Amino acid sequence: MFYKDIPNGKTYLDTDGRHIQAHGGQIQRMSFFDEEAGSTVTKWIWVGEDKTNGAHGGIRAYSSDDLLNWKYEGIIMRNITSREALDTDPYFTKLYEGKNAEELDHIYECINSTTAIIERPKLIYNRKTGMYVLWFHADGPTKESNSSYAAASAGVAVSSSPFGPLKFIDRYRLNVCPDDQEVFFPKSRGMARDMNLFIDDDDTAYIIYSSEENLTLYISKLNDEYTYLATEPKDAVYGTDFIRLFPGAQREAPALFKRKDKYYLITSGCTGWAPNQARYYMADSVMGEWKNMGDPCIFDFNHTTFESQSTCVFNACIDDTGAERYIYLGDRWNSKKLSESSYLFLDIRFMDDNSMKIAYQERGLADGN
Ligand code: DGJ
Repeated sequence: MFYKDIPNGKTYLDTDGRHIQAHGGQIQRMSFFDEEAGSTVTKWIWVGEDKTNGAHGGIRAYSSDDLLNWKYEGIIMRNITSREALDTDPYFTKLYEGKNAEELDHIYECINSTTAIIERPKLIYNRKTGMYVLWFHADGPTKESNSSYAAASAGVAVSSSPFGPLKFIDRYRLNVCPDDQEVFFPKSRGMARDMNLFIDDDDTAYIIYSSEENLTLYISKLNDEYTYLATEPKDAVYGTDFIRLFPGAQREAPALFKRKDKYYLITSGCTGWAPNQARYYMADSVMGEWKNMGDPCIFDFNHTTFESQSTCVFNACIDDTGAERYIYLGDRWNSKKLSESSYLFLDIRFMDDNSMKIAYQERGLADGN
């Protein structure tokens, strides 16, 4: 297999020659114990949605040494094809050993392969516990509603390896609008849809997500294990445990990153699978004042973020020279055939005032890495 460089917006083959299924995903540098090598290795890891069978898939991972050639590492969180599988398939019986029938029913409801929505998975490593923690947009119908996005929750799964098997813990509604602020969707509280994760320099982790029927973004602090909120919603303190961002602005696809001492948050509008204009915000701290900086894209004549939607930003430089190369990873969704959705890897340029610009490149990472 010969790769020149990343085929932006086109079919992107893994090292087995199959189109990469890691949509709504995240790329990061991770160290992990490699069974084959018998030692700890450091690689690029790409996790994302498996859309092979359309909207309902599990989560896949790929690894790479050069950000160009990706080895398929398997399905790291499988979705469940039948309730019986939880009682009979060794993969699940081992993973959920000790769970009672009611708990298994709930797991099935949350991550089944027929109705459950598993989107925008993001994986973080917890240095204190040594565990890999995955959060994802966990949605689907509920007992009260048949709507396919009724649950509007954040799901959590954990594993001792980045390649799973990830054990699903639960899905949760998150923080709610304080009584002294104007809520944009009073009918349903604590909703969590498009999401991302961010670990700050002090190891505090945050979940960033669309709430209030996608009208308002929230940032909520996670606990030390990264497996739940730092504080239960009923006790959470506004400004310390969570903040609401841009109430009513209707933003989703959040991608938060830090460069030097500035925090950046790229977002999209809400138009289903159709691309729309990006907007980014800047702040001096995660829980600080976020300033609207407008559209970072230049020469994006259709205002569609080059027909893509943000999913993460990562620094592609791995040497210790302090060099940086921040890459915008976007999804170019194909709503007719989700499995054929492709990716954009675009360099972010920073100006002297720390603002940023993104221009289109036919091929991502053209100089290699
Ligand atoms: C936009 C979101 O960003 C995607 O992750 C997905 O949920 C689609 N909406 C579904 O229409």
